[in-house]
Amino acid sequence: MQIDPLKIPNHVAVIMDGNGRWAKQKGMARVFGHKNGVKAVREVIEAAREIGVKVLTLYAFSTENWNRPKKEVDILMSLLVNSLKDELKGLQENNIKLQTIGQIQNLPKKAQRELQEVTHLTQNNTAMVLNLALSYGAREEIVNTIKNISKKVVNKQLSIEEINENIINNHLYTFTLPDVDFLIRTSGEKRISNFLLWQIAYAELYFTNVLWPDFRKEDFFKAILNYQQRERRFGKISEQIENDNE
Ligand code: FPP
Repeated sequence: MQIDPLKIPNHVAVIMDGNGRWAKQKGMARVFGHKNGVKAVREVIEAAREIGVKVLTLYAFSTENWNRPKKEVDILMSLLVNSLKDELKGLQENNIKLQTIGQIQNLPKKAQRELQEVTHLTQNNTAMVLNLALSYGAREEIVNTIKNISKKVVNKQLSIEEINENIINNHLYTFTLPDVDFLIRTSGEKRISNFLLWQIAYAELYFTNVLWPDFRKEDFFKAILNYQQRERRFGKISEQIENDNE
C-alpha cells in the first residue's frame, strides 16, 4: 500500500514514550534510552518532512517530568541542547522552522538560549514547523489561556460575550498552529498524559507497542497509512463527508 499524497495529516503530534523500558530491557540505565531516543526523533522529523506534514509536535518534556530524579532531568536537558546544535544545519537545509510550546522560562538558561537561537535562525523556514513541547502540560496551558483572556476582559479589551472557540485558540501556546489531525503514542500505553487536550478534540489516535528508541521511518509511514484508512466525520454522517469531498 502506498501513502496517498492527498491525505497527509497537516498536524501530527507524537508522545515519545518507552525510553526507560527500552534501556531496562537491555540492562542499562534509563538515560541510555533517552540517548537512543534522539535517533528516533531525527527519523520522525525526516519522515514527516518527506511526506509533506506541515506541523510536527513532539512531547519532549512534560510539566510532570520535573519530578524525575535530578540526574535524569539534567541529562534530558543536555540532550536537548546538544541535539539542537546538531540539528540546526539539517533544519535549515530542509526548510524546517523550530517552535516551542510550554513554560520555556522554567528550562535551564542554557537550553533557553539555544532554543531562542535556533528558533530565531529558522523563523523564515516554510516547509514544516517542528514544534517541541517542553515543560508542557495541557492543563497548565489552559490555565494560562484563561488568565490571559481574563486580563483582557478586566482591561475591557474583550467582552465576555466575545469569548468563543476562536478566541480560546488564539490564546493557547499553539495559537499559530492548526488543530492536531493525528496523535501517535509509542510503547503500548493508551493515555493522553496531559498533552494538547484542547487541540486533539477531533484528532485520530494511534497507539503502537514499539518503544520510542526503536521507532523508525517505516513505523511512522505505517502509522500514516493507518490514518489514511480512517474516515474523519467531525460529527457528520458518511454521506455528508462524501458530498463534501466531491
Ligand atoms: C519518555 O520515555 C521520553 C521522554 C520523557 C523524553 C523524550 C526525549 C528524547 C527522546 C530525547 C531528546 C529530545 C529531543 C527533542 C532532542 P520514558 O522515560 O517515559 O520511558 P518509560 O515510560 O519506559 O519509563
